[in-house]
Amino acid sequence: MKFVVINGPNLNLLGLREPEIYGTGTFAALESYICRICEKECIAVELFQSNHEGAIVDRIQQCYGTADGIIINPAAYTHTSIAILDALKAVALPAIEVHLSDIHTREEFRQVSYAGMACIKTFAGLGFEGYRQAILYLKEYLEQR
Ligand code: DQA
Repeated sequence: MKFVVINGPNLNLLGLREPEIYGTGTFAALESYICRICEKECIAVELFQSNHEGAIVDRIQQCYGTADGIIINPAAYTHTSIAILDALKAVALPAIEVHLSDIHTREEFRQVSYAGMACIKTFAGLGFEGYRQAILYLKEYLEQR
């Protein structure tokens, strides 16, 4: 089983960036957390982070035929990017949306998630733990298919 975990813009600044919202854990810490969980669950994982919408679209397209599922935190592109929504729909792989913060209780402009419309499940407001729950959920979903 192989997952690709995609993180969008400004998530590379975790730890430094608005710690009162996103926590004090660094992006490197998040990546090693994801790798540890995948290793424990016997899942092969590739990590990708970009600040560029087109690069994220390219990475989603590359998942077609090469990955079993996608875990994505599109960050601010969640609320703006129909291109990312379309890419997720195009590859038609099971995808899970993750947000460190609870987008549902934040500003009104964060209430719409385009990417979420192509995802089977969303985990928001759980910090790093949301990625762990996403990995376990996707694994179980694929095993039961
Ligand atoms: C985020 C929430 C988004 O609204 C925001 O633009 C981000 C991070 C989160 O993980 O909580 O950059 O996706």
